[in-house]
Amino acid sequence: MRIFFTGGSGKAGKHVAAHLADQGHQVTNADLVPLGHPSVADLRVDLTDAGETYSAMAGLATMDELDLPQLPSYDAVVHFAAIPRILLVPDSATYETNVLSTFNVLEAATRLGVPKIVFASSETTYGICFAQGERKPLYVPVDEEHPTVPEDAYAMSKVAGEVTARSFQARTGTDVYGLRINNVIEPDEYAGMFPAFVEDPSLRRRNVFAYIDTRDLGHMVQRCLEVDGLGYEVFNVANPDMSVAATSQEVRDRFYDGVELRREMGRDETFYAIDKARDLLGFDPQHSWRDHLTV
Ligand SMILES: NC(=O)c1ccc[n+]([C@@H]2O[C@H](COP(=O)([O-])OP(=O)(O)OC[C@H]3O[C@@H](n4cnc5c(N)ncnc54)[C@H](O)[C@@H]3O)[C@@H](O)[C@H]2O)c1
Repeated sequence: MRIFFTGGSGKAGKHVAAHLADQGHQVTNADLVPLGHPSVADLRVDLTDAGETYSAMAGLATMDELDLPQLPSYDAVVHFAAIPRILLVPDSATYETNVLSTFNVLEAATRLGVPKIVFASSETTYGICFAQGERKPLYVPVDEEHPTVPEDAYAMSKVAGEVTARSFQARTGTDVYGLRINNVIEPDEYAGMFPAFVEDPSLRRRNVFAYIDTRDLGHMVQRCLEVDGLGYEVFNVANPDMSVAATSQEVRDRFYDGVELRREMGRDETFYAIDKARDLLGFDPQHSWRDHLTV
């Protein structure tokens, strides 16, 4: 596939864009800064600018394409570019960047007839991650039916992105899949970060004790590109186990007093339900922090 990938120079994007290139796809990375990967074409684009976004998505991906009789169009757009949390820039700038860039990407992709759009939403849409004070889920495991009424600017921008994506899908019938990605962890981060989580599980309360390995996130995006015809869907994306050593029963006893348990859970099972991604996409994450640490 010829893939227009936004935000491929970032923490998550650099792994996912490289994974897609490794799978044999032709990947163009549209970002403010280059990735510099030998198999990924970099194009400097400010996605908050509608003209730049449209021009980039309608244009050449590589010099080699000059030899084609006519300009090919993209087969898929994967939109990861964003300000990825609060407290990097002022809230108004986070909201403005994320909402505007997502609108521009979706509008350009649907007008240009790109048949598959995958975009990064966030676990923060459930309102727990960046809540003022403690907020518990309404029930566990948290699935995609859980209300998304966050109070922070970043998560608001992601909810707005989902609403916008749903509307573009309704207008065009294009497949648009949103990924409510949990806390992204690179393989070389386990050794430094996770001992503290084993020691003190409360450090993971805001992430509902979940995480997603970048390699499994790459697999998830790959499955989104391979499975067609779902229309508009959002998916939780996490690894099947928790990011802490405590059992799910111990975590519930300590942190989720009074929270409804919707179904029986496995000993280490994530509170961030990935059943929908497994069922509809064949998502099958393979990695765990336990492969990198002994507890
Ligand atoms: N990191 C996480 O734990 C996490 C969790 C849930 C969701 N997400 C989402 O996943 C996506 C990737 O997150 P990340 O951690 O890799 O973030 P990141 O900040 O590392 O990467 C984001 C990339 O977007 C680019 N970008 C920002 N504004 C842009 C603009 N106007 N035009 C073009 N490019 C622009 C940046 O240059 C950067 O390379 C984001 O949408 C983020 O909201 C991340």
